[in-house]
Amino acid sequence: MKTQDDGIHATNQDFIHYEQVEKPQTYHLAESDDQFDDEFVICTCDMRSPTFAQDLGAALHEIGFAILSGHGVDVSLYDEAEARVAEMFTRLSLPEKMRFRAQRRGSVNQGYFPIKETSNMHPDLVEGWVFCRRAFERPAEFWPSVDDAQFFEKIARAHEALILPVMQAMLTYLACDPHLYDRKLTGTNFGLRLNYYPPMSAADDRSGAARLLGHEDVDMFTFLPAPSTEGLQILNRRNMKWIRISAPRGTIILNTGDYMQRISNDVFPSTTHRVSKPRDPAQRGRARVSFPMAVYVWEDEILEVLPGLANPKYPPVKAIEFHTSITSKFYGDDYAVKA
Ligand SMILES: [Fe+2]
Repeated sequence: MKTQDDGIHATNQDFIHYEQVEKPQTYHLAESDDQFDDEFVICTCDMRSPTFAQDLGAALHEIGFAILSGHGVDVSLYDEAEARVAEMFTRLSLPEKMRFRAQRRGSVNQGYFPIKETSNMHPDLVEGWVFCRRAFERPAEFWPSVDDAQFFEKIARAHEALILPVMQAMLTYLACDPHLYDRKLTGTNFGLRLNYYPPMSAADDRSGAARLLGHEDVDMFTFLPAPSTEGLQILNRRNMKWIRISAPRGTIILNTGDYMQRISNDVFPSTTHRVSKPRDPAQRGRARVSFPMAVYVWEDEILEVLPGLANPKYPPVKAIEFHTSITSKFYGDDYAVKA
């Protein structure tokens, strides 16, 4: 059995049998002897533009990432969220946080992930906390305080309003009925993950572990309000170099995940990304915060290649089986649910 220390030296190909879409790229889970692509610019797509669908589709087809502007979400919400994530993780003691320890509910592992326990694969230098739709429906059960729940619900609701316009744009680019997923994505499941990367100790710095391992998102797509601290890097599969992405304050980084790669027949890739240490050693002593929201379909839905796309590579599969087969690489083989 592999240990997390093996994970510092492992590559994604050591876990490839869990994958449910093609991932020919090979990369180390942790930072390694990497090359960087300083030329590539991630496209910024204005949601108010008449060419939004074409702009977004082209960006995602090219690299699986885009930056959304003109989305209408109040930037002050994001500023407040940054402060609140740091406050929440540092206010609560470890025993208080461990009362909410993550467990599988449906597809998604929901709840609190202690430092170095985001996955079994690699000792990520991050604490995480995942809140799905049910956490907002039953705040007393899932949140350490109702005040936290009420604030972060504003972010979740604001991002929910973007789900259909973004999906419709992607379907338009693929020449499909833009409303094909309206029903499936109305009131759908999502996971708002709060990430707190504590200041790194010298020992953590020496260990070779990443802040967050190289991975692809399992979901349909992810909304990530632009983080204020550097670290997010994207693997450009065309030259196998890493792109350091920095997005303007108030924008949202959008990326497509495994569900979308599957239904788009690989047109929209589920692109590898990670969170590295800041280049400036002084910054490593500071905490980093992010709060991505992953959009899923409910467990009983079928993921199948969209109608009209030529030469479908993948057979239809139930979402829960697809999702948990992949994520059992993170959480152990017994995480997988057979539909
Ligand atoms: Fe991710």
